[in-house]
Amino acid sequence: MSPGPRLVVLDEADAVADHAAAHIVGKLAPKPDLVLGLPTGETPRGIYARLAGAYRTGEVSFARASSFNLDEYQGLPPDHPASYHAYMREMLFRYVDIDPARTHLPDGLASDATAEGRRYEKAIAEAGGIGLMVLGIGGNGHIGFNEPGSPFDSRTRAVRLTEATREANRRSFPEGETVPEFAITMGIATILEAREILLVATGPIKAEALAAALTGPETLRCPASVLRRHPAVTIVCDTAAAAGIRLRA
Ligand code: F6R
Repeated sequence: MSPGPRLVVLDEADAVADHAAAHIVGKLAPKPDLVLGLPTGETPRGIYARLAGAYRTGEVSFARASSFNLDEYQGLPPDHPASYHAYMREMLFRYVDIDPARTHLPDGLASDATAEGRRYEKAIAEAGGIGLMVLGIGGNGHIGFNEPGSPFDSRTRAVRLTEATREANRRSFPEGETVPEFAITMGIATILEAREILLVATGPIKAEALAAALTGPETLRCPASVLRRHPAVTIVCDTAAAAGIRLRA
C-alpha cells in the first residue's frame, strides 16, 4: 500500500510557488536530462517565473531536459495567444535554455486526434517516460483536461471540455472569442505512469476539489482522487485551498 500523497500546506500562493519551483529545481539539478510533464493555467505562472530566475542565476539548466505539456485546445494554432504553445513560450521556454526540439505539446491542429494521441504517447515513451509530472487541479477535480467521468485507463485523446472549465478559462481569450469546446489531453493512465507527481493548488476555488481528491471516495466524478493510487505524489497548496480538507478530516 502506498502511504498516500504527501501534503504541504503553506500560508499563501507565493510560498506555494517558491516551494514548487524549489522542488522542481531539486529534481532537475541532479538529473539534468529529467523529463518533465507540465501544466498551464493561472496556478503555475509563479512557478515558471521562479524557474526562469533559477536558470538566470545559474542554479539550474534545462539544456538536457525534455518537457511534455498536459494539453492543448483543439483548433488553436500554436501562435494563437490563448494556445498553450504560446503560454509555454511566454511563461518559460523563452527565458531558459531548453532545446525547443525537446519541448512537446499536443498538436491542436491535428486532423486526426486519435493518431495525434498515439503519436504523443509514443513520443513520451521514446523519451523514457515522464520523470516529474507537475499538475494543477480544476475546480471540478479535473487533472489535465480529464474532466469528471474520464476513465482511469484513458490515454492521450480528444475530449470535450465542460462548461465550467470553458468559463474558468475564458479570461485567457481575447474579447469576443469563444473558448474551444474540445482539447487534446494526456490521459489519466498517462499521468499515473509518471515516476513522480507534484500537484499544485491555490485559492478557495480549489478547496472543494482538493478535499474530494484527498478525503472523498476514489471516483470518476473527481478525477484527481485517482492520484491516491500513485506511490509518489506531493501536493503543495495554500491554506485557502486546504480549507476543505481540514473541515472533513
Ligand atoms: C492545464 C491543465 C488544467 C489546469 C487546471 C487548473 O494545462 O491541465 O488541469 O491545471 O484547470 O487551472 P488554473 O491553474 O488556471 O486554475
